[in-house]
Amino acid sequence: MKALVLAGGKGTRLRPLTHTSAKQLVPIANKPVLYYGLEAIRDAGITEVGIIVGDTAREVREAVGDGSRFGLEVTYIPQEEPLGLAHCVLIAGDFLGDEPFVMYLGDNFLVNGIADLVDAYRRADYDAQILLTKVAEPQLYGVAELGPDGEIIGLEEKPKHPRSDLAIVGVYTFSPAIHDAVRAISPSPRGELEVTDAIRWLVDNGYRVHSHLVSGYWKDTGRLQDMLECNRIVLETIERDIKGTVDGLSDITGRVVIEPGAVVEHSVIRGPAVLGANTKIIGSYIGPYTSVGEGCVLEGAEVEYSIILGESSIIGVSGLTNSLIGRNVEVTRATGLPNMNQLMVGDHSKIQVRA
Ligand code: G1P
Repeated sequence: MKALVLAGGKGTRLRPLTHTSAKQLVPIANKPVLYYGLEAIRDAGITEVGIIVGDTAREVREAVGDGSRFGLEVTYIPQEEPLGLAHCVLIAGDFLGDEPFVMYLGDNFLVNGIADLVDAYRRADYDAQILLTKVAEPQLYGVAELGPDGEIIGLEEKPKHPRSDLAIVGVYTFSPAIHDAVRAISPSPRGELEVTDAIRWLVDNGYRVHSHLVSGYWKDTGRLQDMLECNRIVLETIERDIKGTVDGLSDITGRVVIEPGAVVEHSVIRGPAVLGANTKIIGSYIGPYTSVGEGCVLEGAEVEYSIILGESSIIGVSGLTNSLIGRNVEVTRATGLPNMNQLMVGDHSKIQVRA
């Protein structure tokens, strides 16, 4: 069995971070979300992985390399334009050959990995296996409608009026029959070849498509709140590990990872939290569910439930929560201007100031 990982796409919902980086490389607990997927694939016993790359091909290649670090053999498959998930299967035809495969959307996150799912597929004899999960806003996803015996009776991509609350999770297993399906369908109204349409084609043409309800944790990390929630879930699983330096005036409570070269002075850190290598935390409070990347400086800062990417500084600013802060960002106090905020913010940024 092979794996096809989709790491193209524009990541418009995570702008401005995605102006300079691939959405699949935004870190969760200081590790790119894509790495969790690659590790899950390896843990399911798959080694041959094709990665579809688009505009951000260079960063993805730099981050993943030949895959040997993950115990994988990676082949890159460039997609000239984001023409849809089924289009990815189309252009990966030569790589996939006539083997069954797992298709994994690089911004999806499954807390319990995919080994059980892949085992179930290997034991059974389906042409496709999809995962479904109940969601609050099904109109944002592919949606399945099930009959009385759990059989799939309808599949629609981002329907305006969803017929169920069962979203299709971005991890699918396919037999080579999917190649006929992706050749048979036409582009959707948004101009993409939808994998949801290809799966519906399989159902309509009498192929065996099995759905599996998952209740464990799944997130499409395409949006800020999901990203932060994913960060929380991963931080829940970390163990305390202090490799950096902590002075006697600091208080480190609970499961906190402090990476080598990091320095904590006169600060309170309440886990779960991770502080990246060579980061300095001085006179600050870091609250639960916070990931601080490498080489940051936080001085006189108060932050919780947030993700801060590498090389950023937060000086003299308190009350930061629910925040995703990019790389090389400076957040400081406006001096000399009482009750005024001073901003220089990139395109497509979102700032919410105190009311
Ligand atoms: C894609 C699929 C959708 C699926 C979702 C899961 O949507 O088209 O059917 O439910 O992934 O993450 P996208 O995230 O590309 O909008």
